[in-house]
Amino acid sequence: MILLSGSILSCSSSLYVPHESALIPKETLSALQKGRAIYITKCGSCHTLYLPEKYSTSEWRIQTGKMAVKAKLTDHEEELIIRYLTKNNSSNPH
Ligand code: HEC
Repeated sequence: MILLSGSILSCSSSLYVPHESALIPKETLSALQKGRAIYITKCGSCHTLYLPEKYSTSEWRIQTGKMAVKAKLTDHEEELIIRYLTKNNSSNPH
């Protein structure tokens, strides 16, 4: 590791190095699982559940924003649902 042996980083050598490969996929998976669970429980009581692929990411943001009031979602719950619904929207990621 050439970068780590440089003098610039020597003073921060006691700081722990996050391991993305282990941590982030695990958190993302659990966030997506939560988003799915919240979507099913909070969004399926008034109408049938819409399939994720029905809307683009921006459309889901608008729809979920409108429905968040009806479903009494917290901002965090709304974000988890949007992440779940738009996870596979590679054609329109924004
Ligand atoms: C309290 C009842 C209620 C809950 C809870 C609810 N919805 Fe709805 N939803 C409606 C009604 C009524 C409509 C149709 C009329 C409208 O748009 O207000 C609708 C319409 C929709 C539509 C279609 C809009 C369109 O333009 O055709 C989507 C997508 C949707 N809801 C998603 C959601 C999501 C996501 C949630 C959870 C965050 C949710 N709904 C929770 C009552 C609800």
